Amino acid sequence: MRIAPPDTLADRVGRLRRSFAAASIDTLVVTSLPNIAYLTGFFASAGVLIVSQDDLALIGDSRYATLLEGRAREFPAIRPTILPPGVSFDETLVGALEPLRGFRVGIEAPHTSLQRFRYWTRRLLDGERWPNELVETDGLVEELRLTKDRWEIERLRDGAARLSSVAKCILPKALAGRRESDVAAELESELRRAGFERPAFDTIVASGSNAALPHGRAGERVLEPGDLVVIDFGGVLDGYCTDLTRTVVAGTAGARERELIERVAAAQRAAFDAVQPGAAPERVDQAARDRMGDLADRFTHGTGHGLGLEVHEGPRITRARPDRPESPLAAGMVMTLEPGVYFPGWGGVRIEDDVLVTESGAEWLTDVPRTL
Ligand code: GLY
Ligand code: MN
Ligand code: MN
Repeated sequence: MRIAPPDTLADRVGRLRRSFAAASIDTLVVTSLPNIAYLTGFFASAGVLIVSQDDLALIGDSRYATLLEGRAREFPAIRPTILPPGVSFDETLVGALEPLRGFRVGIEAPHTSLQRFRYWTRRLLDGERWPNELVETDGLVEELRLTKDRWEIERLRDGAARLSSVAKCILPKALAGRRESDVAAELESELRRAGFERPAFDTIVASGSNAALPHGRAGERVLEPGDLVVIDFGGVLDGYCTDLTRTVVAGTAGARERELIERVAAAQRAAFDAVQPGAAPERVDQAARDRMGDLADRFTHGTGHGLGLEVHEGPRITRARPDRPESPLAAGMVMTLEPGVYFPGWGGVRIEDDVLVTESGAEWLTDVPRTL
C-alpha cells in the first residue's frame, strides 16, 4: 500500500491547523479513522489523534505498535503513544487532555458516541475544575478532504483505470445461467488480481426483478436470458475507493431494455455536462433529472456522491437540503454520477462513473462502454 509522502501529510495538517481559529478551537481530538488516515497515513481499525498547533499525538493500541512506530519514522511530526496494557483509548486521551490550561478542545461531534462524550465530560468537567472547554466541531477534516490533492488524484485515477479494466474483462462474458453470487465472486477475485486491497462495498449483481432494488445484493438468483443485470462494484487502492456500475442484459437485449439504458446514459451525460467549478451540486442533480423526462419519478435516489478514503463522502450530488447546504463544486473534487431508474417487480437500470472536477469542467476517470 502506498502512503502519502510526509510533505503532503504536513500540508494537510497545516491546512487543518489554519482552520482552528475560525472554528474557535486550539486543539482537535480526531476520532474518525478515515480522518486520522488522511492526516497521518496511519490506517488502522482503532486510534485517536490529538492535533494542536505544535503537536500531533497519535494514540494506537499494541496491535499496531510496529505500524505506528513506522509511520512516526516516516513522518516525524507524529508523536506516537501505544496504549499500556489494560488502559483504554479514552483513559489515555483524558490523561493527555488533563494537563491543558486555557485550551478550547474541539471534538468531532459526528464521530463521537454519546457514551464516549459522557465519559469524557464526566472525567474532565465534573469535580475538580478543568480549565479548558470542550467545543463540538462538525466536518473540519472532511472539508479538507472534499478537494483532493495531487497525490490523491493520482491514486483515484489509478484506481478508476484498474476498475475499468476489471469491468471490461467481466462485462462481455455470457452471464445467463450463472448465479448472481457467482458473478460477484468472480468480480471480487478480479479486483484483487487488479491490485485492489479489497472491495469498496458489497458487490451488487442484481438481475431481473432484483434490479429494481437500487441497493440489492448478489443473491442466489440465476440470471435468465433477457434479464437486465445491474452490476455495481468498487475497489480500494492505497486506501482510496472507486465505484462503477453498468447495466447489461443477459443474452439478447429487448427494445425496452436497450432504450432504458440509453436514456439513463443520456441523463448521466447531462449531469456530466453540468459539472464545473462553481456549479451547485443540486444543479448537476437537476440536470440528470431533467434529462430523464417522463422517467424522472423512477429516479429515486441522488445523482452521486464524493469518493475518497470513504466510498460515500462529500460532495453529495442530490436535491438541495436546506438543513445541510452543500458547497459549490471545486476543481479537485472527485465524485460519482450514477442516475438510475427502477420498476418494482420488473427491473431497473443504473449507470455509474467516477468523475474529476477540473479547472474547466470535468473528466471521466472510469472508462467503460455504457450502452449495449
Ligand atoms: N454501491 C454503492 C454506490 O454506488 O453508491
Ligand atoms: Mn456510488
Ligand atoms: Mn456503486
